[in-house]
Amino acid sequence: MRNILITGGAGFIGSHVVRFMVGKYPDRRIVNLDKLTYAGNPANLRDVENSPNYTFIKGDICDYELVCRIIRDHGIDGIVNLAAETHVDRSILDPLVFARTNVMGTLTLLQAARDCWNGEWSGKMFYHISTDEVYGALPLDGGAFDETTRYDPHSPYSASKASSDHFVRAYHDTYGMPTLISNCSNNYGAYQFPEKLIPLTINNIRHRRVIPVYGRGENIRDWLHVEDHARAIDLILHSGRAGETYNIGGNNECRNIDLVRMLIGAADRMLGRSEGESLSLITFVEDRAGHDLRYAIDSSKLQRELGWQPAITFEDGIERTVRWYLDNEEWFDSVTSGEYMLYYDKVYGNRR
Ligand code: NAD
Ligand code: DAU
Repeated sequence: MRNILITGGAGFIGSHVVRFMVGKYPDRRIVNLDKLTYAGNPANLRDVENSPNYTFIKGDICDYELVCRIIRDHGIDGIVNLAAETHVDRSILDPLVFARTNVMGTLTLLQAARDCWNGEWSGKMFYHISTDEVYGALPLDGGAFDETTRYDPHSPYSASKASSDHFVRAYHDTYGMPTLISNCSNNYGAYQFPEKLIPLTINNIRHRRVIPVYGRGENIRDWLHVEDHARAIDLILHSGRAGETYNIGGNNECRNIDLVRMLIGAADRMLGRSEGESLSLITFVEDRAGHDLRYAIDSSKLQRELGWQPAITFEDGIERTVRWYLDNEEWFDSVTSGEYMLYYDKVYGNRR
């Protein structure tokens, strides 16, 4: 595989994948196709934007002609699809855009790759990045999703991701296209848009705004540092078996309320505030509709077959993450100006 098209590379995970591959493969072309929605930010890639092996193209994965042109002009033989609408709360407010980008966008990429590669599958790979949310929710008392768990999505977001996964498998089974899918648990780290729990909490601590915790904060997520995810994506792209699915998880299950308290502990210390000062910001708010109780990932297939292991411990990763956001206030301010506060007020009813 020579030249790689990464879609959604200006977003949170995509920017880490682009940075990783631009650095690791100086003799290959890494092309980033991103529409730059509210979640895409060229500033996430300032440090690599002038690299000779990197090309950025602003555009939509739903644009068949554009995708074909990119595949042909750049001799693309590997596609990593990260472009998506990704926020569950937004999918509850406006599901149609999730179907358009996540379902039709993925299908457009598949069809463009099929037409351009024209049955010459040797050295080609279509790799689709999916989520653990397609598997639904787990009870509190045990179990974890593995690659054979039945799909049971509950939100418009997870339903759209599940649908796109099915199309990817259909292209493998019907046309023989070499495909890969990975389903990952919650990521955390630098450059995540502050609509998601961790950066939102840190930003609100910084501004002494209330920290909205849905329900009683008892829902559980399994957290993985985004750099461990980027490494896993690179490994799966180059060593995964075509047609297979790999689960990726951090083995760090945590209740939301415990995570928020951890973030407060670290941020208060770094900001020179008294211990626990920001605990009073915690505010229990109305629960998310259809809120999945617990996610947990069994990633033993990836560990066994490809030798992947997460390298960053949860404690160290959270410490580094809080430090990064507090050291990069101008990044926070640039992405939370304007439209962000309109969305924030719509979801949180002016609770500031
Ligand atoms: P993100 O919201 O931070 O970024 C998404 C990116 O896609 C943005 O840069 C946006 O501009 C771009 N985009 C959106 N619509 C587009 C379109 N029509 N054409 C081209 N670009 C478009 O997302 P993220 O959190 O980095 O997630 C990336 C992928 O990983 C998604 O597919 C998501 O489902 C999956 N995933 C995310 C997590 C997580 O915890 N964040 C976990 C597992 C899987
Ligand atoms: O599991 C992987 C998924 O993780 C990805 O596929 C999604 O793209 C990504 O957004 C993430 O989904 P979640 O819904 O788990 O992430 P979010 O940060 O929105 O919420 C994490 C938990 O925190 C969830 O139980 C809801 C809760 N929450 C969230 C927000 C934004 C709150 O209690 N308060 C909040 O303000």
